[in-house]
Amino acid sequence: MKIINVKTDSKNYEIKVGNDLLGSIPLKKLVSEKDILLVIDNRVPELLINKLKSNLKKSSSKKINSIKINALEKNKNMSYLSKVYDFLIRNNYSRDCVIFGIGGGITCDMTGFIASTFLRGVDFVLVPSTLLSQVDASIGGKTGVNHKGFKNMIGTFNQPAQVIIDTKFLKSLSKLEIQCGMMEVIKHGLISDKKFFVWLEKNLKQILSLKPQFIEKAIKRSIEIKADVVSKDEKENGIRAILNFGHTFGHALETIGENKVYAHGEAVALGMLAATKLSESSLDLDNKVFDRVLSIIKNTGIKVNLKKKIVPKRLIKLMQSDKKKNNNQLKFILLEKIGQAKIKSIKNEVLIENAIKNSLFY
Ligand SMILES: NC(=O)c1ccc[n+]([C@@H]2O[C@H](COP(=O)([O-])OP(=O)(O)OC[C@H]3O[C@@H](n4cnc5c(N)ncnc54)[C@H](O)[C@@H]3O)[C@@H](O)[C@H]2O)c1
Repeated sequence: MKIINVKTDSKNYEIKVGNDLLGSIPLKKLVSEKDILLVIDNRVPELLINKLKSNLKKSSSKKINSIKINALEKNKNMSYLSKVYDFLIRNNYSRDCVIFGIGGGITCDMTGFIASTFLRGVDFVLVPSTLLSQVDASIGGKTGVNHKGFKNMIGTFNQPAQVIIDTKFLKSLSKLEIQCGMMEVIKHGLISDKKFFVWLEKNLKQILSLKPQFIEKAIKRSIEIKADVVSKDEKENGIRAILNFGHTFGHALETIGENKVYAHGEAVALGMLAATKLSESSLDLDNKVFDRVLSIIKNTGIKVNLKKKIVPKRLIKLMQSDKKKNNNQLKFILLEKIGQAKIKSIKNEVLIENAIKNSLFY
C-alpha cells in the first residue's frame, strides 16, 4: 500500500492506494465512536463492499447503515439527494458520524456534498471505484451537484478525512471507462511531469491491462500531481486551473453533443489535441509534441474522431459562454513543453479556429 499525504490550507489527510486493501486497511482511527453511513453506487460489485463492511464492523461498535444510489448524472441533484438526508435524520445521525462514498465520480461528488451540508458538515471518506474518480474526482475536495441542467452548479470545497483507493474495483469497469480515466492520467503527465509522460508512453499496454504495479504507479503519480496543484491553490483562484487542460474544448464538444454523443474522456481527448495544437501557435510548442499526444491517446484505443459535425466558430461561442470565460477573452491551458503548462488568454479567434481545424479535422 502506498500513502500520499495531502496538505491543504483547510486540512491535511492521507490517500491510500493499493490492490485488495478494503478488508485489511486500518480504519479504527477514522471510525471508532462514530456512527457510519455508507453511500453506495448500486453498480459497484457486492464482494468488495462486503469486505469493507466487515472491516468496518471490526473497527467500530457504533451503528453502520448503508444506502444504495443509482449513480446517473440526471440523479446528481438536490431532489435525489433528499432521500439520503431523510435517511440520516430518520436514523438519528449526529454530527459525530462519518459518511463513506463508494462509487464513481458521481457518488464521490454527491457524498462530499451531503457530508459538507448535513448538520453544517460531518466527516467523510471517499472510496472511489472508477479510474476517473481514483485519479481525479476523489482528489482535491470539490463536491457538487447539478441544478436544472447546469453541471456542478451547487457545491463546496471540502476535503475528506481520507481517500481509500483499491485498484480491485477497476476489474469490473468497461474498456471505455478505463480509457476515459486514462485521459486524466495522461493530462497530469502533460501538464506537470515529462518523466511520467514518457513512462506512460512506454508502459501503456501494461497499465491498460491493469497489471497491479503498473496501474498503481499510474494512479499514485497522477494523484501526487493533482494533490500538489490543489495544495497550492485549494479554491481555484489561479494555478489549479491547469488541471482543466483539454477541458475547455472538451466541455464545448460535450455541449454540442448534448452530453450524449461523447463520453467525457472522449471529449477531453479531442480537447487535449486542440489545446496542444493551439500551444504551437500561441506558445511556440514544438510541433512534434502533437504527434506524441495523438499517438498516446490513440494507443489507449479511445475514439478520436469527431462524431458530430462541428463549426469551429460555434465551438468558440460555446467556450465563451462557459464559466471559465474572463471579460470575453477566452483563457486556455496550454503547453510550453511536455510537463509544463501555462494559463493564457487568447484574443485572436483565428488562432483558435485554426487549432480546431488542424487538430480535429483530419
Ligand atoms: N469533484 C471533482 O473534482 C470532479 C472531477 C472530475 C469529475 N467529477 C465528476 O465525476 C463524475 C464522473 O465520474 P465517473 O466517470 O467516475 O462516473 P460515474 O460515477 O457515473 O461512474 C461511471 C459508471 O461506472 C459505474 N461504476 C462505478 N464503479 C464501478 C465498478 N467498480 N464496476 C462497474 N461499474 C462501476 C457507475 O455506476 C456508472 O455507471 C461527473 O459527475 C463529474 O462531474 C468531479
